Amino acid sequence: MNRRFILDCDPGHDDAVALLTAARFLDVIGITTVFGNSNVTNTTRNALALCEAAGLDIAVHPGSDRPIAVDAAVHSAQSIHGQSGLDGAALPPPTRKPHDQDAVNFIIESALQETDLTIIAVAPLTNLARAITRAPQIVNRISEISIMGGSTTFGNVTAAAEFNIFADPEAAAVVFASKIPKRMVGLNVTTTFGIASEHIARLRTSGQLLAQEIAGALDYYLGRQSAHYQRQFAPMHDVCAVIPYSHPSLIEYQDLHVAVECQGTLTRGQTVCDQRGMRRDDSAAPGASSTAVAMTAQGDAIVEVVMDSLLYYP
Ligand code: BDR
Ligand code: CA
Repeated sequence: MNRRFILDCDPGHDDAVALLTAARFLDVIGITTVFGNSNVTNTTRNALALCEAAGLDIAVHPGSDRPIAVDAAVHSAQSIHGQSGLDGAALPPPTRKPHDQDAVNFIIESALQETDLTIIAVAPLTNLARAITRAPQIVNRISEISIMGGSTTFGNVTAAAEFNIFADPEAAAVVFASKIPKRMVGLNVTTTFGIASEHIARLRTSGQLLAQEIAGALDYYLGRQSAHYQRQFAPMHDVCAVIPYSHPSLIEYQDLHVAVECQGTLTRGQTVCDQRGMRRDDSAAPGASSTAVAMTAQGDAIVEVVMDSLLYYP
């Protein structure tokens, strides 16, 4: 098996955890960045800073700075992730530069060259949608896309829509309608567990530099989660898209048709997951395609994977 991975992300506190966990367990051939939790300049800088602090030699390819629809607003997550996208982190500024090849071209080139490429997408799906639109032949070349986004139930930006989908619904619609095998882990699973203050204390007292730097970031993020959603823990949304490859037994998926709502006044950005139990393709909504959707997770075990990953780096 020569399974290789691209991480498409917008670091982002939980993206940082996903990046460090993916690099700990998987063969990550590149990181692509996109606007989302902050602007793409910040998310690219944060990815570079994380790689450098962790001693990871992975190129960072900068990507899209806005949604694909010309008149769509850029929606930021500053209220959760702060001005920098990674507030609270004590990471030194990176000395490395982003790669000259942009995210979309890197995804296309990798898809055409690699024999077993999986893309872990934990941010607005803009880079992927652009890659599919520019080079449609890549849909037959990508083994799987693992998306953190959407929900079978409630949203977080709106009552119906989750951030990564809401930030660029038209892009998400392109990806979900594509024939690439897909799995999706959404808020119905990712909000059921997370990092609490005792975990942050363990990182702080570990004596390990990166763990201490990340502890500051997670403390900030936990504070924002408490303020916004009255949570006593900080969900590790994005790492859940990594887990099916590092620890496959920890999340259970069910095949459902999923479509993205791009029109609704109250529901724009909703992932409409068809749970009627009908399996015939002709019963699916327009634009829907079969997706493995996460339904349950072993939260405590995933938190321990996260702790193990964060404490892995010196
Ligand atoms: C998703 O939105 C972002 O703020 C997080 O990084 C995660 O990818 C959760 O809705
Ligand atoms: Ca993210």
